[in-house]
Amino acid sequence: MTFEDDYRRRTATSAQLFERASRSIPGGVGSTARTIKHGWAPYPLFIAEGQGSRITDVDGNEYVDYLLGLGPMILGHRHPVVTKAVADAIGEYGTCFGLPYELEVQAAEKVVAAVPGIEQVRFTNSGSEAVGAAVRLARATTGRRLVVRFEGHYHGWQDTVYWSNHVDPELAGPADHPRPVAAGPGVPHELSDTLVVLTWNDPESFTRLMAERGEEIAAVITEAAVFNTGCILPEPGYLELLRAETKKYGALLIFDEVITGFRFARGGAQEYFGVTPDLTTLAKGLGGGFPVAAIGGSTEAMRMIAEGRYSHSGTYNANVVQCAAVSATMDVLAEPGIYDRARKLGDRLAEGLRGLAVDNGFDAYVEGLGTVFQLWFASRPIKNWRDAAAYADEALFTRWYQEMSLRGVLFHPLQFENLFVSLVHTDADIDQTLNAAGDALAAIARTR
Ligand SMILES: Cc1ncc(COP(=O)(O)O)c(C=O)c1O
Repeated sequence: MTFEDDYRRRTATSAQLFERASRSIPGGVGSTARTIKHGWAPYPLFIAEGQGSRITDVDGNEYVDYLLGLGPMILGHRHPVVTKAVADAIGEYGTCFGLPYELEVQAAEKVVAAVPGIEQVRFTNSGSEAVGAAVRLARATTGRRLVVRFEGHYHGWQDTVYWSNHVDPELAGPADHPRPVAAGPGVPHELSDTLVVLTWNDPESFTRLMAERGEEIAAVITEAAVFNTGCILPEPGYLELLRAETKKYGALLIFDEVITGFRFARGGAQEYFGVTPDLTTLAKGLGGGFPVAAIGGSTEAMRMIAEGRYSHSGTYNANVVQCAAVSATMDVLAEPGIYDRARKLGDRLAEGLRGLAVDNGFDAYVEGLGTVFQLWFASRPIKNWRDAAAYADEALFTRWYQEMSLRGVLFHPLQFENLFVSLVHTDADIDQTLNAAGDALAAIARTR
């Protein structure tokens, strides 16, 4: 039986719902990231419920969940403390006032206490919004126009940054001098003049750019560890180089911590790697599964917002659902030892998967930081997008996803995404996953 036959047999109710959804929702799903084109073939699962580290689809199939909603469910599904805090706050105060309130201050104070580079913070609705605000703020603050971003990183869908994510290297030119390529239609090509796109983890091209154009650069925006091309960690000294050069030329350094924030350390990648940016964008983990994002930074970097000279606005900014979720999530994350435990668990899973893949004859390795990692099917280490495009075996990865999903383990079907381990996954989840992985990899090895 092929994967597709088996999948259709197990998920008939999802198929019916997908057909129904496709009549009233374009593509049958609420985000392009959930479409067939983005790996969810032959149709996405429709979910009945999530609880802790598990989700169940509408046909009653249960999965150990490493998709985690694409990252937000850092505390697992329906964490009782956060869920109760949000429900209580709605019951006690309401949802949205268009005016400030004390819980907002509490939530902000807790984020400031947690993240080293954040002295002040504004809450907003999505990572894309937070990035849009940060980029424009950097331009406003410096009076400069150019923004540096890196191939293979994703910073949301706004025109200013929706460029050169998983770009075709043929279109993008040489790796040491890439051309910006819009990530989709509708982005004005004139904006390419406002961007410099570079290859990540390549100190020479960055140093050269700064020497040539450093005084024109408003901001350098980077994921501090790249989780939008599988998982790629910074080479030793690379983040420090970005920090030193931006400081030298008066550009702002923006860490887009939408994925890394609160993920493997409470203070995010900036705490973990010990490099402090001027501005930070947060989302996903920030609200423990509720929709909230934030832009934060040093008091100096946030000055134009504070003085009202830069308009950071939004009807739903800092609404009660967001602030209750942030405040409660920050409390849960402050529990001593919670990250050590989760990182150890994730490392056991990652190392187990790597061992099983190698034992079954695959060229594979794992890169990650415990609570988020990727199993790379690749014959060479991947250091940036150009390596990923050249050496990763995407078809093999998707086969691996398929075999695992049939065995009750869910993660994203594409090699350039990753696996998330929540702070509530258990040893039993990891054992079950490794058992499934042994069977899945042996099955793939037999039919290669
Ligand atoms: C690093 C990064 N920045 C920004 C975004 C955009 O966030 P959102 O989907 O909440 O708009 C994402 C989304 O995956 C992301 O991974």
